[in-house]
Amino acid sequence: MRVLLYTPSSKMLPEWRDALARALPEAEVRAWEPGLAWRADYAALWYPAAEVLAGQRGLKAIFNLGAGVEALLKRIALPPGVPLIRLEDAGMARQMAEYLTWAVLRYFRRLDVYAAQQSRAEWKLQRPLRHADFPVGVMGVGVLGTHVARALAALGFPVLGWSRGRKQIDGVRCFAGPAELDAFLGGSRALVCMLPHTADTGGILDRRTLFKLPAGGYVINVARGGLVVDDDLLAALDAGHLAGATLDVFHEEPLPAAHPYWRHPKVLITPHASAITHIDAAAAQIAGKIRRLERGEPVTGVVDLARGY
Ligand SMILES: NC(=O)c1ccc[n+]([C@@H]2O[C@H](COP(=O)([O-])OP(=O)(O)OC[C@H]3O[C@@H](n4cnc5c(N)ncnc54)[C@H](OP(=O)(O)O)[C@@H]3O)[C@@H](O)[C@H]2O)c1
Repeated sequence: MRVLLYTPSSKMLPEWRDALARALPEAEVRAWEPGLAWRADYAALWYPAAEVLAGQRGLKAIFNLGAGVEALLKRIALPPGVPLIRLEDAGMARQMAEYLTWAVLRYFRRLDVYAAQQSRAEWKLQRPLRHADFPVGVMGVGVLGTHVARALAALGFPVLGWSRGRKQIDGVRCFAGPAELDAFLGGSRALVCMLPHTADTGGILDRRTLFKLPAGGYVINVARGGLVVDDDLLAALDAGHLAGATLDVFHEEPLPAAHPYWRHPKVLITPHASAITHIDAAAAQIAGKIRRLERGEPVTGVVDLARGY
């Protein structure tokens, strides 16, 4: 069995190749290079070069080396009939729960305000907030969002979830579809964005939706930068409607040095760090799915190309 590998990072490539070879010793794993004429059974790709699948005829499946597939779909045309399979969790759900617990508690416990006070050597106790007054909305309760929603509910926050189809998650008030979006937003003092970037979700956090959040609300985006209309978020912060934003993902990464987010007093930035793919866990997941496919068994994580996730 042959597995073709592509990642744009020459530093990560040997790590991925070795991890896949360890997880799938029965396979020959080769890194793609220009002009390579080598027919593979499977491809494992991240931010692929446009020509990476040129000459491939017999692919049985393509694996995306991350949870979000929009970058891959933008870069290559998929051979018809070949399933695209994404990573599910692979160590990311726990990291997301850690990051979002921190980001929500930072606002809830007024640590953002205390940091600003420290810069002025100001000693002033802020009035504590009550959990009941700090409902958290998780926009996108899929593999990662469900884990995060449960972690936040376990801390005592009222948690709301929004998805395309209706979900049932213990301790989470679930909303579904466009018809229930405004009710979901209106009840979310802190909004955690965990949606995939698709034709339906691009720019979903715009002036209209941001102003549906309660006054004094917070936005935390760990999904993709393209979900947010930056000028609208800045306007909502500057108008005093929103009290803060924690942003891990951006339209352009690295975030350009001149971008107003960098120096905005209400914005906290991290460099796409909320959840890093755990290479060994990811390789083990891909190997498990390849073995299932070889046995003719179904696998999870197959991307619905019509929906885009
Ligand atoms: N910052 C980082 O480091 C990082 C790391 C990993 C992932 N991510 C991002 O996180 C995203 C989510 O990952 P995941 O594994 O949790 O994905 P997932 O399991 O596919 O979950 C996606 C969720 O979004 C909902 N959704 C999609 N389109 C919608 C729409 N138009 N309206 C309402 N709900 C919609 C889905 O609803 P249904 O349940 O009804 O289908 C589902 O609940 C990824 O796509 C990626 O962009 C970021």
